[in-house]
Amino acid sequence: MGKDVIIACDFASKEDTLNFLDKFTGRKPFVKIGMELFYAEGPQIVKDLKARGHKIFLDLKLHDIPNTVKKSMAVLSRLDVDMTNLHAAGTISMMEAALEGLTRPDGTRPLLIAVTQLTSTDQERMENDLLIKEPIDKVVMHYAANAAKAGLDGVVCSPLEAGKVHDTCGEKFLTVTPGVRFADGDIGDQKRVMTPAEAKKIGSDYIVVGRPITAASDPVAAYERCIAEFVG
Ligand code: C5P
Repeated sequence: MGKDVIIACDFASKEDTLNFLDKFTGRKPFVKIGMELFYAEGPQIVKDLKARGHKIFLDLKLHDIPNTVKKSMAVLSRLDVDMTNLHAAGTISMMEAALEGLTRPDGTRPLLIAVTQLTSTDQERMENDLLIKEPIDKVVMHYAANAAKAGLDGVVCSPLEAGKVHDTCGEKFLTVTPGVRFADGDIGDQKRVMTPAEAKKIGSDYIVVGRPITAASDPVAAYERCIAEFVG
């Protein structure tokens, strides 16, 4: 798979999601389904969007004992998603088990991406709540290296970290980066942002874009602008 723009479909229902996606009459965007929509609508929402021709990143961030994650990943793989994810904090053995579960009998599987430290976790919370005393950048790179060691395809990270992740884990290790904003747009609650063009320059493989597209007055134009800036 090459560089692509993934639209974060952070909607509460199938109806809102389809109303939004109905606007895309040309190119069918790669879409991210998160916990809210998946828990509201169940696996059928994945089947429905697949049937409409979308690639799917199922963002459920699994984290449990290896055996449970392995069996759950087998279920997600049968849903025919294109990309899914888990928490690297679940350890290398959990990530290896996830890959096993995800691999279909014919050897194919969805891409598997790890979350390192959530961007909502800062140094202070990591130290005080999790008793992890190392600098957060080092922890993020260590988790990324663990994901690579386990055989995963990449990590979710800030576009600002994408270059360093590639340096640590190799050019082929994918970086999936949220926190993208247009140069002339609202940054909302995101703190460290980059434009699609900057994310391209720094080596992101996929950008995940929510509100700059979903809340735009012309979402299709905003999506095409992302594609033009990021994919070229
Ligand atoms: O609307 P916005 O472009 O900020 O949406 C970004 C998407 O990426 C949301 O679905 C958000 O949950 C997700 N995300 C993020 N930062 C992370 C991980 C995921 O913004 N570190």
